[in-house]
Parts: sequence; structure tokens; C-alpha cells
Amino acid sequence: MKKTRIQIFDTTLRDGEQVPGCKLNTSEKIKIARKLEKMGVDIIEAGFPISSPGDFNSVEKICKSIYKPIICSLSRAVKKDIEVAASALKYAKNPRIHTGIGTSKYHIKYKFNSTPKKIIEVAIEAVKYAKKFVEDVEFYAEDAGRTENNFLAQICEAVIKAGATVLNIPDTTGYCLPEEYAEKIKFLKENVNSIDKVTISTHCHDDMGLSTANSIAGIINGAKQIECTINGIGERAGNTSLEEVVMIMKQHKKLNFYTKINTKLLYKTSKLVSECTGMFVQSNKAIVGANAFSHSSGIHQDGLIKKRETYEVIDPKDVGVNKSSILLTARSGRSALAYRYKKLGYSFNKSKLNIIYPKFLKYADKKKEIYDEDLKKILNNE
Ligand code: KIV
Ligand code: ZN
Repeated sequence: MKKTRIQIFDTTLRDGEQVPGCKLNTSEKIKIARKLEKMGVDIIEAGFPISSPGDFNSVEKICKSIYKPIICSLSRAVKKDIEVAASALKYAKNPRIHTGIGTSKYHIKYKFNSTPKKIIEVAIEAVKYAKKFVEDVEFYAEDAGRTENNFLAQICEAVIKAGATVLNIPDTTGYCLPEEYAEKIKFLKENVNSIDKVTISTHCHDDMGLSTANSIAGIINGAKQIECTINGIGERAGNTSLEEVVMIMKQHKKLNFYTKINTKLLYKTSKLVSECTGMFVQSNKAIVGANAFSHSSGIHQDGLIKKRETYEVIDPKDVGVNKSSILLTARSGRSALAYRYKKLGYSFNKSKLNIIYPKFLKYADKKKEIYDEDLKKILNNE
């Protein structure tokens, strides 16, 4: 069966940067954008130019520095926003305007004090206006996750007629269950005329920890673009994490998806984003966390030493991490201890190991982790 290519739309520099306390300057943004280009992302959402002169400047400079990916610029469904977004894209080789409006009852009633009919009119106007500046126009139906499917289908059909090339279906509040999000995408595929002329995009937030599962449910049901950020940074609990969805597609061959991402650059890119944003990556973060390929309990270490695949579903080298690590703690067993001593040049037979092991445990009970210098001290009875 032919594999389906999934486009990776990175919004680290726009939605990711919306995190409190995470301010990136223009040169940091260019550095990150260049790394994203090198890694193979298809679309870089560079910013929201109407939001500040600094953001406008960053989008413009990114356009001058980036060659291959599409550069996307965000705007509300407001003429002035669209004009500014288009102007910031002046130097882009492949420009895209990303415009849209809230479509759920919460947004229509409380945010806009409007009606569904008027919201559709505004959406059509915005897409038509954006089309005057660029060919590639992505429409977002904000809070699509909580938007009733019939209305969502209606607005999607209207904006396709107006010229939208991509339909973004955001689960803005991270509320959907994977089967609900899957059903939503399927419903659009089955009920919107000309849907096959456009690309459906997922954009899932992580308020309930479901953003990755929802994005994958989306592509299984016909979406062909995933919006995501490095390390999953973003508003509140964050966005879908790029490294997670990319590695799921790579490892689960039966899904039949592929991306253009050079996964060997994932770890370095994660580090760069963490350093520039000052946002620490939790140690147990999938794929790029410090503990993602570390093993500390005896049973796991024993299995891993015999065969890596017993406790790892990803080869660390595939994401740019040199090797798995065997950490020594009070939960470690004899085989990990022997393994680590061997790395230091010591080989012990079973009876010698049986003498050292209780000493090791006594030492390890007083420390969080045992390092090479501790192993030498244990041997010297210090
Ligand atoms: O989460 C969201 O709905 C968004 C849109 C602006 C695309 O970030
Ligand atoms: Zn978002």
C-alpha cells in the first residue's frame, strides 16, 4: 500500500511562543527557524505580525532567511490583520496567510456576541481578502473541537468556495477525546463538498494530555497536516509535540504515513528551543526528556543489556541521542552493576560480584544516583 505523506506545520515561533515568560528575540527566532528548515519541516508559522512591531520584524526577517519551507503568518479575520500579515510575508519564497475565527457556541455568543450566519460571512470575507495577497490561504475554525459538526461542515464548505487551500480544525481547548476528534475529521471528509481539493490540518492542544493522540486520530481519518511545536510548548498545557507525532509515524509502520523530518536532529532542536525559550524540558518527556532512554530499575536494566528492544521502542540514535544509559540507583541489579564496572575496565566473577553488590546497595540507599567515582570508592571500601 502506498504511504501517505503528512505535512509538518511547526508553530513553535507563534503558538509555542505564546507561553507566559517565553519571549524570543528576532535572532533566536531566526536560529530556530533555520534549524527547523534543516530538520525538514514543511511549514513554519513565523508569528502573528499585527501583535507587535517586534513580531512583524521577526516574520519579515525569517522570510528573508528561509528558503524551502512555506512561511505562514497568522491573522484574525480582520482586514487590517490580514494586510499586516501579508506585508510581513513580502520576502517569503512560499507565503501562506493563516486566518480564521472562533466557531464554537462559546466564541460566537460570548466572544463575538454574534450569530452563526454572521460568522460564516466574516470567514468568507477574510479568506477572499487574504486571497488578494497570496494564493495559499489556510483557514482556522478556532475551537473546532467544541463546534457542532454540522455548523463546522457548513463554514468549511463556505471557505473552500472562497478559496481556502488548507482547513485547520483546532481543538483549541484540548477537550476532545481521540474518537470525537477522529469522528469530526471523518464527518468533514464525508459531508463537505470539494473537501478533497484542500488539505485538512490538525491543531491540538494538550489540556487533557490528549494532543498527540488526537493529532494521530486526525491523520488516520484523513487530515494530511499536523500543527505542532518542539517540546510541545504552547498556551496553557501546550500544543502537540512535534517529536512525538513524527516518531509515532516513523515507528508504527502499519499506519503507512511518512514525513520529511530528519529525526536525527530532533534532540538537538529540542535543546536549542529549550535554551532559547528558557523552558526546561521535563525529564520524563517522551522522545527528548533526559530520562527518555535512561534505565534505572534492575529488571529493566537486565533486559536492556541482553537486548535493547526489550525495553526500548525507539533506537536513541534515531532521534540524535548517542546511546541508552544505565543509571545506577538502589533499584539496580547485579547485571547493571557488572555492566557499569566493565565500562570502567573491571570484570568480576559471580562470587566477587556477590560480595560487591551488598556494599553497592548500602551506598546507593544514601544517594539518588551512583556515578563512576562512587563505584571506585565502593571497590576501595571508602
Ligand atoms: O489553538 C488555536 O485555535 C489556534 C488558532 C489561532 C489556530 O492557535
Ligand atoms: Zn493553538
